[in-house]
Amino acid sequence: MNEPLLSVRGLAVNYGHVEAVRGIDLDLAAGEITTLVGANGAGKSTTLMALSGLVKKAAGRVLFDGRDISGAAPHRIVGDGLVQVAEGRATLTTLSVRENLELGAYTRRDGAAARARDIDRVYSLFPRLAERAAQLAGSLSGGEQQMLAIGRALMARPRLLLLDEPSMGLAPIIVQDIFRTLKAINAEGLTIFLVEQNVKQALKLAQRAYVLESGRVVLQGSGTDLLGDPRVQAAYLGH
Ligand SMILES: Nc1ncnc2c1ncn2[C@@H]1O[C@H](COP(=O)(O)OP(=O)(O)OP(=O)(O)O)[C@@H](O)[C@H]1O
Ligand SMILES: [Mg+2]
Repeated sequence: MNEPLLSVRGLAVNYGHVEAVRGIDLDLAAGEITTLVGANGAGKSTTLMALSGLVKKAAGRVLFDGRDISGAAPHRIVGDGLVQVAEGRATLTTLSVRENLELGAYTRRDGAAARARDIDRVYSLFPRLAERAAQLAGSLSGGEQQMLAIGRALMARPRLLLLDEPSMGLAPIIVQDIFRTLKAINAEGLTIFLVEQNVKQALKLAQRAYVLESGRVVLQGSGTDLLGDPRVQAAYLGH
């Protein structure tokens, strides 16, 4: 593979006596979409939160672009360019779409002109947000809120974008829309780490994939290989 942008070794997270993540290794190649799939409770969200510095690691090392960020504070990690998309419903509901996007740029020190250009880019990726720029985020549909959450994360100028189940609770046609946009953002060079329960769509989209079960990586490979793997088909695709 290309040089990994993110490399994780022996990551473990416990909640009290619950071993949520039990020593996993991950390599995310620069410029690729990597997906982490698995059932409820497998440890997917915990893995993302550990990468973002939001839960304490019991063990493990995280290298981002060669730098050890294992013990870094969440705002430093975001500042470095590792940005997690907030849960769709976590947009600031009493602020407008545009204000939410402006807040996404809070870690940046460049000027208003650069931020305005990036807002225009988000609007071109998600034209529905442009149409609703002045509308309160709380009045958006679920799909639009998910788009806004992604747009807000993009405003931080990520080098690696983390997403936790962006398809959750959305109609299939909206999911298609969002996955198409992720593909377009990736085609422009952004590296993406996508956690999904929508295994089929995620494996179709991603170049590389990991399957997590009870806190352990049990399978890994290219998205195409895992789509065709009988174990994946039996456990996750209903074949
Ligand atoms: N704050 C917490 N305190 C105690 N246990 C927790 C906590 N958060 C998660 N867990 C447990 O850790 C394990 C992994 O949870 P996690 O949320 O990472 O799974 P997940 O793969 O994201 O699941 P889902 O697909 O349902 O979102 C589960 O057994 C869960 O019950
Ligand atoms: Mg989860």
